[in-house]
Amino acid sequence: MRSIKEDEVKFIRLTAGDEDRLLEYLHDLSPETKHRFGPHNFDRQSVRAVLGDNKLYRTYAAINTVSGKVLAYSIIRHGFLEHDKPRLETCGLAISTEQDCTYAPSVADQWQGKGIGSEMLGFIRNELSNAGYLRMILWGGVQAGNERAVRFYFSNGFQKVGEFEYYGLNYDMILDIKNR
Ligand SMILES: CC(C)(COP(=O)(O)OP(=O)(O)OC[C@H]1O[C@@H](n2cnc3c(N)ncnc32)[C@H](O)[C@@H]1OP(=O)(O)O)[C@@H](O)C(=O)NCCC(=O)NCCS
Repeated sequence: MRSIKEDEVKFIRLTAGDEDRLLEYLHDLSPETKHRFGPHNFDRQSVRAVLGDNKLYRTYAAINTVSGKVLAYSIIRHGFLEHDKPRLETCGLAISTEQDCTYAPSVADQWQGKGIGSEMLGFIRNELSNAGYLRMILWGGVQAGNERAVRFYFSNGFQKVGEFEYYGLNYDMILDIKNR
């Protein structure tokens, strides 16, 4: 089983200079992980659009301090996805453009299930709290059959607020950022 020492991982907010290592990470994801994690296309133009000084997106990574490689990547969108809004409102959520943000996480296949996703969520949650956000909404929900992700969200304090059908059953989930 692969393991990584705590002092070999650091969490950072990505900038425009991280384009190449993020592309390498995305390229190396397994088809299964790519199928589950798809907030944007994985080509250079799409990656460039979300990195750097950007009012709409914040991007974060876990970096191996020895190799410099990206081990995990998450993207946060300010506010909500237009596409998700009607569904979330049906769940009774009053969506706020100022205090809500939308979250999509991923961890490199060989590091999944080893705690990196949870640690990184703790780091991101802190950053978002400092930036004034109150709530995280899952980006497009989560497939009910994605057991690892569902358990990851529940064990990190997310609540299920609704269900919908899209190529099978999916859950809408939210996290109250301030509530620890
Ligand atoms: C979902 C994901 C981000 C979670 O990150 P992670 O680093 O693997 O998760 P962690 O190791 O921090 O685990 C958190 C919880 O999930 C549980 N878990 C880990 N592997 C699991 C598995 N194979 N099956 C069920 N639960 C599992 C852990 O036991 C832990 O729960 P616990 O605290 O109750 O014990 C990561 O697995 C991933 O990238 N998956 C593929 C892409 C994806 O599904 N993204 C989300 C789309 S909605």
